[in-house]
Amino acid sequence: MDSRRLRQSLPIGRIGDPLYFFSTIGSTNEYARELAEQGAPHGTLVVADEQTAGRGRSGKSWATPAGSALALSAVLRDLDASQTALAGLNVLGALAVVRALSHFRHMVEVKWPNDVLLEGRKVSGVLVEPLWTGDQLVAAVVGIGVNVNPEAVPPEENLDFPATSVVGVLTRKIDRVDLLLDIVRELDTLVRTYDLTELPSLCEPFLAYRGEIVRVEIGDNSSDARVLGLNADGRLNVEFDDADRVAISLEQAKIRPIDSRRI
Ligand code: BTN
Repeated sequence: MDSRRLRQSLPIGRIGDPLYFFSTIGSTNEYARELAEQGAPHGTLVVADEQTAGRGRSGKSWATPAGSALALSAVLRDLDASQTALAGLNVLGALAVVRALSHFRHMVEVKWPNDVLLEGRKVSGVLVEPLWTGDQLVAAVVGIGVNVNPEAVPPEENLDFPATSVVGVLTRKIDRVDLLLDIVRELDTLVRTYDLTELPSLCEPFLAYRGEIVRVEIGDNSSDARVLGLNADGRLNVEFDDADRVAISLEQAKIRPIDSRRI
């Protein structure tokens, strides 16, 4: 990755100053979290070409092989009251990636709460790590991973959802620095200009499986429900078979499509 160009092009809005670039690191989220604990300002950005201990949701690992993906983590502070809902920040991160990828004119969606689908397959994941002082959210690290080249996609047997890469879908080369800058631009705009009460209207046009039946997995239980839409705090509104309408939170649940023709 051309780190000189990255440095020259940042900050964008309030994100990217300071910038920490690593050709290899354990986890950009881990590093950004340490910086945040030491008082790093809003907009501190950590970018790596390779991660050797990348972190995914639910304690899983996340692979970022050298030269083939994006791995970035931004420290956000001074979040307004509506932005302290962690599910909302996950959706916001995913929406930044969706908006950056939408230039490519392929089907791109947010798979609630923190995945981005390109032509129905996972191309990007978001991991938000909060920093609390007592019950107050003082900062959040928003970590974003994107599979850019096919080498970034883990082997099928390691996946719990089908995955793809940007280049695999577009079948042409793309510039990783340009895509990273577009994501930073979208993230900055979303954080700076929107109150998250606007999240449903911003995100719903891109919400995967809206109106469709999905399997909702809560712990060891799973039931089918129709996806209705989003709440302002990032919870997903679903309707179960018995007409029971529930807003599910990201700590509680995962969703998967039932119609496998979609993937
Ligand atoms: C997921 O879908 O499970 C979330 C994956 C998040 C991966 C990104 S890559 C940059 C940042 N650093 C990490 O260690 N994780 C996030």
